[in-house]
Amino acid sequence: MYVIFLINASYAFAQIHGKYDAIYSGTPWFDQNGNVVSAHGANIVKEKDTFYLFGEAHTDTSNAFVGFNCYSSKDLYSWKFESMALPVQKSGKLGPNRVGERPKVMKCPKTGEFIMYMHADSLTYKDQFVGYAVSKKIKGPYQFKGPLLFNGKPIKKWDMGTFQDTDGSGYVLVHGGEIYKLNDDYKSVAEKVNENITSGFESPAMLKKDGLYYFIGSHLTSWEKNDNYYYTSISLRGPWISQGLIAPEGTLTWNSQCTFVLPIQGTKETTYMFMGDRWSFPKQASSATYVWQPLVFSGKSLSIPNYQDAWQIDLAKGIASSKETSDTIIKNNDKQIEFKGNWKNTDSESKSDEKDASFTIKFSGQQIALYSLVSSENGYAKVVLTDEKGKIIVKAVVDMYSKFSVLSQVFRSPVLKKGNYKLTVYNTGERPNWSDKKKNIYGSTGNYISISQIKIKPHKI
Ligand code: GAL
Repeated sequence: MYVIFLINASYAFAQIHGKYDAIYSGTPWFDQNGNVVSAHGANIVKEKDTFYLFGEAHTDTSNAFVGFNCYSSKDLYSWKFESMALPVQKSGKLGPNRVGERPKVMKCPKTGEFIMYMHADSLTYKDQFVGYAVSKKIKGPYQFKGPLLFNGKPIKKWDMGTFQDTDGSGYVLVHGGEIYKLNDDYKSVAEKVNENITSGFESPAMLKKDGLYYFIGSHLTSWEKNDNYYYTSISLRGPWISQGLIAPEGTLTWNSQCTFVLPIQGTKETTYMFMGDRWSFPKQASSATYVWQPLVFSGKSLSIPNYQDAWQIDLAKGIASSKETSDTIIKNNDKQIEFKGNWKNTDSESKSDEKDASFTIKFSGQQIALYSLVSSENGYAKVVLTDEKGKIIVKAVVDMYSKFSVLSQVFRSPVLKKGNYKLTVYNTGERPNWSDKKKNIYGSTGNYISISQIKIKPHKI
């Protein structure tokens, strides 16, 4: 009897970690272990009924390469950490104190092998080339092979992407718009099929719809977000026609930088999912998030006309839809929220730049979300969600900085078990800021954290 009681008690408090019911952009995601998903500059490969996400693993202390992570998901909502598919090497071009970015995996149709491409570089970004690694199993471990060769020479470029055409041909894309066609084994380049289109055009990504190729890229502003733009062509060899921005001007691509487009093909439609990074230097491990949005097509144009906090995808039909919400809204000036320290209050937000100033809300519900007026003078907040016994369910460092001010969802918990919870948010006294190799300064000018509203999804009755 005694043993049974203990088991039941531990079940009562156990959480199903990393369970989500939609794709939420701009909020840290938690995996099955309660850790924040770290997979930036990513791509996704579908193998049977599973999606595999590959991306940069990061630390909060340096930009040195630590490895590329692999996560898996059946629904694109909840991500399970699988492995570090390519860890930092003992020495060499992806060894200690080097840069490794933008991993992209493709399955080679001829050999059935999985090939991972990446940007390898020195810490000062002066020794760049496109590298590759191979594995027989999708999850890795991948074996780093060094530079991908074209006419026997490395491709000495930095931002890169990949594209697999409908005929199975594989391509490597590099900044500026160059396109390289891979040989049948995907391990070297057969031909350069397109020359540079423009300067800048970083983080290149491509999709093909109804015979038309869409080539998306960003301006060159380090980890700061900018208005990404695109070209179209009926051939990978061009001519490429400039089509303008992919999101409303000034939204800085809804505060993100593109990295990949995933076609989700169903029986009725194909949804093309834009995958972008919301970088957060120096806390790229804890606070950089993901902006994944369905692309909207109108004739030969594409766009992300509206930012969706949450959306769902019917994988069988390939149809994307907005997520209905029944959330209860609690405004920043509601008595249920307890503030500590110095806060400036208006009807639309409460904000504080005092280190350790905090607010707490006790609630009962399935999910809690925090909305802030993100701005250019905001910094990092520590968010801690506990159960009623004080046990930590999840914690995260949330970035409230944005070059343009907008009401944004910055945190959303995974789906919670029925129970009573407490959410506390503290000012860390830190902010994102950095400089690029030309010594241009980027990032926030202040340490404010902000709350506009809290949304709680009630328990199902
Ligand atoms: C960006 C690039 C990132 C990273 C960063 C470093 O422009 O897209 O992948 O290299 O610069 O500043």
